[in-house]
Amino acid sequence: MAVHHRFDDITIDDLRAQGSMKWTRMPDHLAAFVAEMDFGIAPVIAQALHQAVDTPTLGYTPPAIKDEMSAATNEFLHSRFSWSIPPERIYPTADVLSAYDFVLERFARPGTPVILPTPAYMPFFTITPMRGRDVIEVPMIHGENDRADMDLEGIARAFEQGANVLILCNPHNPLGRVYTREELVALSEVVEAHGGMVFSDEIHAPLTFPGHTHLPYASLSEVTAGHTVTATSASKAWNIPGLKCAQLVVTNDEHQAAMKDLAFVVSHGAATPGLIANTTAYRDGLPWLEDVLGYIDTNRTLLGELLAEHLPEVTYRAPEGTYIAWLDATGLPDIAGDRSWATFFSEEAKVGLTDGAACGKAGIGHLRMMLAAPSHVLEKIVLAMAQAVDRHR
Ligand SMILES: Cc1ncc(COP(=O)(O)O)c(C=O)c1O
Repeated sequence: MAVHHRFDDITIDDLRAQGSMKWTRMPDHLAAFVAEMDFGIAPVIAQALHQAVDTPTLGYTPPAIKDEMSAATNEFLHSRFSWSIPPERIYPTADVLSAYDFVLERFARPGTPVILPTPAYMPFFTITPMRGRDVIEVPMIHGENDRADMDLEGIARAFEQGANVLILCNPHNPLGRVYTREELVALSEVVEAHGGMVFSDEIHAPLTFPGHTHLPYASLSEVTAGHTVTATSASKAWNIPGLKCAQLVVTNDEHQAAMKDLAFVVSHGAATPGLIANTTAYRDGLPWLEDVLGYIDTNRTLLGELLAEHLPEVTYRAPEGTYIAWLDATGLPDIAGDRSWATFFSEEAKVGLTDGAACGKAGIGHLRMMLAAPSHVLEKIVLAMAQAVDRHR
């Protein structure tokens, strides 16, 4: 029997009462559609924020707070991923998506398409065309052990069609892949051979499970450092995305020279309390994170067991990192009519999931679901889904 954990005591009423986006956007649903955790925040971060309010430290970001955040990020990247990156190359930015927008606007060849291995995090499909660029979807392919691998030949062809930037999401949302060194090196050879660049989205970097090690792409070699801009944040791993702070890590020397004029543009949207919270997370938030990771680790096994028992036509490969589950619903009987499975489960089970099609054509017939929930919520979700399917058989 599973050992009791304090997160098991969090009720759905508690979650709704907290008023998060996840639990209020569809108030009558069991919510699993947006990457927020149900576990609150680390007490050390709450304390740091209280102090910022009491001081108060709520004006524009003072240089010392910026410097602390860059130093704390440097320490964390070094201790956790053995990546030594000078603090002066670590810039605060509001969030990973605005960092992506910035990289497109300032560093990518104008007007060129962007390569997106799919399925992919949904906003990349909306932001990219807003910047006058096409998205070239390159579906992942089946690798060993049912693993999803990047299609390097497809990526090479996309560069040959004129693409300049590849979006690397590692750990991967929504597939939960944590790429190995061999995979990343093989990718880097394709990128470099085509004179391409990589936007490396490493927002889920701290969230990996035993047996899998996150490798920052730009840390692999001088080659990857030279063709990459990296974005990361404490926002997913410590559940603080509303605080609006991420880090842009600049490893290309020309980009770094350009940042003399551009740092203001990329950093102005970052919020002072967000910088304080990121600094605290990276320096003092590890015990909370390890506790959360242990709980999600149990949940990723539990979800597999629940599906096998109650809804065996829906299959899933436990994520190697992130708290995101990618469900393959293509084995379900044909009962949804012209509805997607997300709409079916929303209407028939009152479960809020992301439609895989929003993650690209490769995601059709799939569902994206969050695992950072009390275990009893996962159980309720799977049971509600199974009952809805059984009612329509
Ligand atoms: C892979 C990935 N990138 C970017 C984001 C968005 O991050 P931000 O809120 O920092 O823009 C998310 C949010 O869930 C994500 O999962």
